[in-house]
Amino acid sequence: MTSLNIVGGGRLGKSVARLAHDSGRYHIGALLCRSQASALAARDFVGAGVALTALADLPAAGITLLAVPDGEIAGVAAALATAGVIAAGSVVCHASGVGEAALLAPLAVQGVHCASLHPAFSFADPARAVAGFAGARCALEGDAAALPLLQGLAADIGGVPFVLAPGGKAAYHAALSIASNYLVTLHDLAARVATQAGMADEVAAAVLGGLMRQTLDNTLALGPAAALTGPIARGDAGTVAKHRAVLSAQDDALYCALGAATARLAATRLTAAQQQALAAALAPPAV
Ligand SMILES: NC(=O)c1ccc[n+]([C@@H]2O[C@H](COP(=O)([O-])OP(=O)(O)OC[C@H]3O[C@@H](n4cnc5c(N)ncnc54)[C@H](OP(=O)(O)O)[C@@H]3O)[C@@H](O)[C@H]2O)c1
Repeated sequence: MTSLNIVGGGRLGKSVARLAHDSGRYHIGALLCRSQASALAARDFVGAGVALTALADLPAAGITLLAVPDGEIAGVAAALATAGVIAAGSVVCHASGVGEAALLAPLAVQGVHCASLHPAFSFADPARAVAGFAGARCALEGDAAALPLLQGLAADIGGVPFVLAPGGKAAYHAALSIASNYLVTLHDLAARVATQAGMADEVAAAVLGGLMRQTLDNTLALGPAAALTGPIARGDAGTVAKHRAVLSAQDDALYCALGAATARLAATRLTAAQQQALAAALAPPAV
């Protein structure tokens, strides 16, 4: 059985600890928070472990997960190195999506195997997270010696691990943010423009929601170039001009930036004349 310490028993920390405990393959050592109240709440949620607030009291563990906020990781790693409580040869990982294992450098110089383990999953509500975690993708990066144990942990808690190339975390996290956050922004833009057409909110929600779901399904099944339909894919610069004429300046700027990228995606289907006409129709507004 592998022993697991959690430093930062918040949303992610207590969820991972509970899943690890429930798998029957991990001994939960400590659940450490800044406040005793949080540590006790984490212990109650997990149903195992010792509630702690002082890093110097951490028991020995095969894996220590730093599930503290991103901005705290480097400081906690430095404090752990100063306290000298992490054994050389054991594994320490953090859960930041954008931060590299290098955030744990003070521990790495002590012979600790340092890595990051980022579940591409929302832990907004720990009870719901635990119930729905199965199949979540978990990105691993860092010291090769840490990876087998962390691949095992990710799989044991129901996740699907994959390894990122060194230096890939920022691009990895940018990709997730674009896929998730910008989808929301796109929906907001479309809903705002639908309001201009006089569509009732519930009608717009049904029309746009249905179309967005269908388009995403098509993109995943066929690939972006084949899934693309609409005026830009047809080289219809006249329709593009009609759209732009009714947009606010702010929405028009977004429409042009996204339109230019869409035209590049459609380029192989368009004649040179169509591409030129689209480029002119999508020229950014004069500042
Ligand atoms: N939440 C998600 O959906 C999600 C998803 C993927 C990755 N992550 C990553 O997971 C990590 C944790 O995020 P979270 O959302 O779980 O954070 P969170 O809910 O805010 O919990 C943070 C925990 O860390 C403790 N803490 C803060 N500073 C500390 C310090 N200096 N020393 C010891 N403990 C400290 C807090 O204790 P107190 O309560 O006592 O202050 C709290 O228990 C971050 O790296 C985040 O990027 C989160």
